[in-house]
Order: sequence, then structure tokens, then C-alpha cells
Amino acid sequence: MTSTHFVVTIDGPAAAGKSTTARAVASALGFLYVDTGALYRALALKGLESGVRLENPEALAALLDSTRVDLSGTPDAVHVWLDGADVGERIRTPEVSEASSRMAAFPAVRARLVELQRSLASHGALVAEGRDLGTVVYPDAEVKLYLDADLPTRARRRARELESRGIPMSLEQVTEELERRDQRDRTRPDSPLQAATGAIVLDTSGWSIEQQIERVLDIVRGHPSRPESGPEERAAGGSQGVGASENT
Ligand code: DC
Repeated sequence: MTSTHFVVTIDGPAAAGKSTTARAVASALGFLYVDTGALYRALALKGLESGVRLENPEALAALLDSTRVDLSGTPDAVHVWLDGADVGERIRTPEVSEASSRMAAFPAVRARLVELQRSLASHGALVAEGRDLGTVVYPDAEVKLYLDADLPTRARRRARELESRGIPMSLEQVTEELERRDQRDRTRPDSPLQAATGAIVLDTSGWSIEQQIERVLDIVRGHPSRPESGPEERAAGGSQGVGASENT
């Protein structure tokens, strides 16, 4: 495990290929992989299941105080824990996507999860992906990226991914879902989705996922203060944990 502090942030709208890219880069370089969306999704699942009224500040605070969210595993096999149960699959439904975006607009929720995300940077080199990583969570990150792609490209990617999870949805439905969520994520007052100052913006429409990964790897490898490549650098399949543990 590398212990040098080095942070790569990948922000961008839904289904821009952030997760696939971040996982592959973390795996190849032996960095920690932090899927921040999974934290919002896990909290949203709890909110949905407990029927809590998010607009009620006391109810929201009680939910945050009584919920524990963890990440563990490797970049290729991330486990997402909600109160001790692995919810990795259950947080990928369209209902949870929508609920996580709504939940993410509440400053109390963001404050709690940002604290958890920052604590991870002390673990060494990491690649973190989400919406506000270069702007808010890790403003001093060594490499900041903003991955984008046009809506039809992103909708096709997300529809394929949902299909592979056994959740078939029409392209029209997926397109609407992405548009609604992006609009909310871009316009919320607290930590809206936007490219960080100094971020490298990549429009990946028309790129293959391999091209996308190669381009990002080139950028990270080209950074002068990247941790020494050594035995920890892997072609694929990292063995580094992504442990995050916090009472939320
Ligand atoms: O990356 P994702 O689609 O799994 O994220 C789900 C939702 O969580 C997204 O619509 C907005 C929210 N989110 C956020 O507000 N900030 C982050 N850093 C990550 C996700």
C-alpha cells in the first residue's frame, strides 16, 4: 500500500463513465478508490426504507445520527455497507438514484459525508469520484478532472448498465431520469455540480471506455508529484481496501 498523500478527483454528471474510469485508474496505480455517490445512495436507501421526511430537520438529524455507512473491498469489488448490511446492489435502482440526488441537496447530509470523505485522504493516494470533489471535498487535489459526455451517449451507457443489472428501462425514461437528476445536482445551492477551477475537462462522447481510461492514466502518470511507481502499480485488479467507516 502506498502511503503518500496524492488525490485525484473525478467529477461530472451522471453516467459520464466516472466510476469505470476511477476504478480502473485506482486499480492500475494501487490507489484507494472512493465512490462518493455510493455513500449518498446508501443514506438515500435508508431514507426511503424508513420513510423519513427529509424536509423535517429533526427527522433528518435523527436519521443521520442513527445511520452507519461504510465502504470496503477493492476497486474491482467494492462493498457498500449500510448499518452492517451490504447494500451494493440495492443502491443501484432508479428509485435510489433519484432519492440520493434529492437527499444530497440537504447541507446537513453533505456536511456529514464530506467529513467522512476527507478522513480518507489521510490513508494515502486515492481516486475519488462524485460531484463536488474538486470544488469542495478535496480543493487541494493534485489532479482534478471533470468527465462529461453528451446526454444521448450517457443515456445509452446508463440504459446498458441497468439492463445488465436486470433493470430494463427505455432510453426515453433513462434520458429523463438523467436530465432531472443532473439539473437538480447542478442547481442546488450547496456544492452544485461544476468543474473545479483548474480541472481538466474531458468530453468523452465518442470515446471508448479504454480510451477514456488511457487518457486519465496518462494525465495522472504525468503529474510530477505522483507517488513513485513501484511494485504496487498493477495492470489490473488492485488489492487495496477502500475502507471508510463513520457514524453518519
Ligand atoms: O455518482 P452517483 O450517480 O452514484 O451519485 C448519486 C447521487 O448522489 C447524485 O445524483 C448526486 C449525489 N452525489 C453528490 O451530491 N455528491 C457527490 N460527491 C456524489 C454524489
